[in-house]
Amino acid sequence: MQTRYPIGVFDSGYGGLTVLKDIVNKLPQYDYLYLGDNARTPYGNRSFETVYQYTLQCVKWFFQQGCPLVILACNTASAKALRTIQQNDLPDIAPDKRVLGVIRPTAEIIGTLSETKSVGILATQGTVISESYPLEIARFFPGLKVYQEACPMWVPLIENNEHQGHGADFFVKKHLHNIFEKGETIDVLLLACTHYPLLREKIEEHLPLVVKLLSQGKIVADSLADYLLRHPEIESRCGKTGLREFYTTDSTQDFDNHAAIFYGAPVISRHVDIESVIN
Ligand code: DGL
Repeated sequence: MQTRYPIGVFDSGYGGLTVLKDIVNKLPQYDYLYLGDNARTPYGNRSFETVYQYTLQCVKWFFQQGCPLVILACNTASAKALRTIQQNDLPDIAPDKRVLGVIRPTAEIIGTLSETKSVGILATQGTVISESYPLEIARFFPGLKVYQEACPMWVPLIENNEHQGHGADFFVKKHLHNIFEKGETIDVLLLACTHYPLLREKIEEHLPLVVKLLSQGKIVADSLADYLLRHPEIESRCGKTGLREFYTTDSTQDFDNHAAIFYGAPVISRHVDIESVIN
């Protein structure tokens, strides 16, 4: 029998903790369960099928844990797996539960922040190839120019704690150069990967002053608050006991050592072997 009903927050690794941090600040009254699929990270260069299968397994695990609502705090999983899970899987496996992503809330507001009507999306290869941002943004802001740049080295630099070193300068400059070459008039640059806020300082060092750098944590937190207000049938089922639990599919020691940098507070995690508990 279930004894807890936390909101699930998922990422391929640590990145989702940057979102969880803002969610917890905005909505401290709810219970939260975080899962990082560190054993299989990064997702960014993997195929649609693989990202979908991994994400679905993790979503099923969250449901087993009692979560009425799961946030995919990972752009890659939101881009490659969310729609299929919402449309094809949920009606069968858990019609009364919900899974939300991070792309739509961002797409809904990004056009309001640009004066030049020209925005840049920095993301993983998988998110860029999926075209999810240009497609989703066009629904809310037709005519807004959207330029994308895949930054495949940024997640490995961050996951390996090299984001403050000289290697990071090289790859940050390279991708900023590329995106401004594509769109000279960009005045809003979105960090469309939940790992990238860790590179914020480095990016700002190399960014023209007029460009706004946008990360997703607060946007997703505001959007979740709004969703819970509009959906009392889900909100009433979310636990409110102050629970914060962290799980990783890899070493808990590594997770705890790294996670605090992303979450901004100490983390003590537990291990779960997803493939052995979900098939
Ligand atoms: N944090 C994930 C995202 O927002 C990407 C990390 C990965 O490549 O696994 O896209």
